[in-house]
Amino acid sequence: MNVLLTGGTGYIGSHTCVRLIELGLRPVLLDNFANSKRAVLDRIERVTGVRPLFFEADIRDRRRLDEVLAVQPVDAVIHFAGLKAVGESVQRPLTYYDNNVHGTCVLLEALQAAEVRTMIFSSSATVYGDARTMPIVEDAPTEATNPYGRSKLMIEGILRDLAVAQPEWSITLLRYFNPVGAHPSGAMGEDPQGIPNNLVPFIAQVAVGRRDRLTVFGDDYPTPDGTGVRDYIHVLDLAEGHVAALQHGHRHPGVHVYNLGTGQGYSVLEVLRAFERVCGRELPYAVAPRRAGDVASCWADPERAGRELGWRAERSLDRMCEDVWRWQSANPTGYPE
Ligand code: NAD
Ligand code: UD1
Repeated sequence: MNVLLTGGTGYIGSHTCVRLIELGLRPVLLDNFANSKRAVLDRIERVTGVRPLFFEADIRDRRRLDEVLAVQPVDAVIHFAGLKAVGESVQRPLTYYDNNVHGTCVLLEALQAAEVRTMIFSSSATVYGDARTMPIVEDAPTEATNPYGRSKLMIEGILRDLAVAQPEWSITLLRYFNPVGAHPSGAMGEDPQGIPNNLVPFIAQVAVGRRDRLTVFGDDYPTPDGTGVRDYIHVLDLAEGHVAALQHGHRHPGVHVYNLGTGQGYSVLEVLRAFERVCGRELPYAVAPRRAGDVASCWADPERAGRELGWRAERSLDRMCEDVWRWQSANPTGYPE
């Protein structure tokens, strides 16, 4: 089975690629390197012994997509490509709608023409907005609180409309909670450009000496220790969730929606303590005001994915931190240029 991974050299795409190769499937990677580096391809080869097929392309470039799909027919697509920085999306909303929403429409047209009818889409727990009840089930109300989140909700809506108009499509919307962790080899991991927006990459850079201290955004939330609680999920558990969704999606047309999370929330300070245990030293932090747009708590009910896909996350928070630390200490400045 040939599987197109748009955004395939990105953080989640590259780890999913490794898993697909290990299972004997054939990933076909496509990326424009807007937020990833070519060296990822060398690392995938180092880890798996296989160099994946790769096409440099922008999902908004219809002619190039047609070319890729003609050279390399595929049976399904996992659509990771997208911009994902919430703050940047507030500053540059049109860039986000163009890249994420328009890009997805162009991709869908190219897939239609190539008669590909199975898509797994990277959605996000951000579509639940400020959810009232925890854990969050898939039927909870959705709401966008920023342009990034709105682009995800718009794409979900577009995909649902498409499945109504053309019932032969199989669309799976995977709503990721907080992906963290790295490949256990230490050769692959998350490589944010500039100052990390997300907690775990920031802590990892403090641990490796690239940043002085963690800023904890608020300690006055209605949570056990006052800091924000999230559902962190190991990127390899996430990768396995994509494989399960692919196998299921291929047999079941229609629209399917799954939370990919562990069902367990941890606070900012709990994550910091876990990282300190694995790197063997105390990490400095300072408390600052809440970050605009943050919610107090967010964790998944992953029961539906367990029941319908036979998938559940297995790797612990300590394991997530160990793998991030192995990656970060071996690659203090991320992937080479
Ligand atoms: P990432 O930035 O590492 O990977 C995305 C990849 O898409 C990058 O390699 C980038 O170069 C590529 N890309 C962007 N625009 C493109 C375009 N127009 N054409 C071709 N390639 C393009 O991000 P990630 O963490 O791997 O996330 C993958 C997907 O999952 C994204 O859609 C993201 O919104 C979604 N998601 C991520 C998280 C998270 O915390 N990492 C959480 C929820 C959802
Ligand atoms: C963020 C995005 C969300 C996106 C997700 C995955 C925002 C508001 N939300 O989620 O849309 O889907 O990333 O990419 O950006 N924290 C600190 N100090 C830091 C960084 C984070 O205290 O330097 C805290 C946050 O306040 C939060 C927790 O750590 O309580 C997790 O933050 P983060 O990793 O950014 O993820 P989310 O905010 O859950």
